[in-house]
Amino acid sequence: MTTVIDGKQAAASVVAAVKAAAERLETEAGRRPGLAVVIVGDDPASHAYVNSKSKMAKQCGFKSVQHTLPEATSQEELMALVAELNADPDIDGILVQLPLPKHLNSEAVIQSILPEKDVDGLHVVNAGKLATGDLDTGLVSCTPAGAMILVRQIHGADLSGLNALVIGRSNLFGKPMAQLLLNANATVTIAHSRSRDLAGIARSADILVAAVGRAEMVKADWVKPGATVIDVGINRVPAPEKGEGRNKLVGDVDFAQCAPVAAAISPVPGGVGPMTIAMLMANTVIAAYRAAG
Ligand code: GUN
Repeated sequence: MTTVIDGKQAAASVVAAVKAAAERLETEAGRRPGLAVVIVGDDPASHAYVNSKSKMAKQCGFKSVQHTLPEATSQEELMALVAELNADPDIDGILVQLPLPKHLNSEAVIQSILPEKDVDGLHVVNAGKLATGDLDTGLVSCTPAGAMILVRQIHGADLSGLNALVIGRSNLFGKPMAQLLLNANATVTIAHSRSRDLAGIARSADILVAAVGRAEMVKADWVKPGATVIDVGINRVPAPEKGEGRNKLVGDVDFAQCAPVAAAISPVPGGVGPMTIAMLMANTVIAAYRAAG
């Protein structure tokens, strides 16, 4: 029988541990973790993500602040807000929701966040620590950190001898995911839109991680029998079966086709998605403990 990996349950355990740690911090140091989430513009999907991040932060007992800025915000205004949050001792974590409107330089904004408050793990200091195998003093990007917990549920902490494939090479996911798998001793391949024979490469993967952003692209004949499949895609597609004009969420993996071939597979929704938000809370509580000394 194929194991359908339950990301909601795994996320709930992380959140329970975060809540307990936040309570302990309040008792011992007299302060709560503080998370600031910044969103620029009107993208409805981004607003939905940001609202759930702010809500979860409150549920964890954090100080939670949300800054909603208009589409026309200038680079200087956004950087000034980041500078203010950097200097605020009540704020331990700063998340600037991506993508930013096109006129803004995302990279400059991200690099202006203090590395110790960069709960997205995107600052070069944090990315560099991960790349050099320092998993103890930096902050790791939330979605790969969460996906890695799901991989460990199936395979344990040591992936020696296993072939892992990450499809996707973004700074937010593909690159850090590959680094985490490598740190766990997997033999890692990174594939992307310019790779040749993706299906062939995929068929040799014991752990197949898909983050391409193309609905149900990974088909049954891409999956090695008995593999673990981690689906990082979130794609909204028409769902006429639910009624006229209705949508549904699907991953980058064709679940119905691939589930019978895999030994373990994460669904969409309910797989990696809930882990991302849980790991954001975990990163914030870690940053708060470090700030408290
Ligand atoms: N947009 C989609 N996912 C993320 C994320 O993990 N962090 C940020 N900042 N923006 C995102």
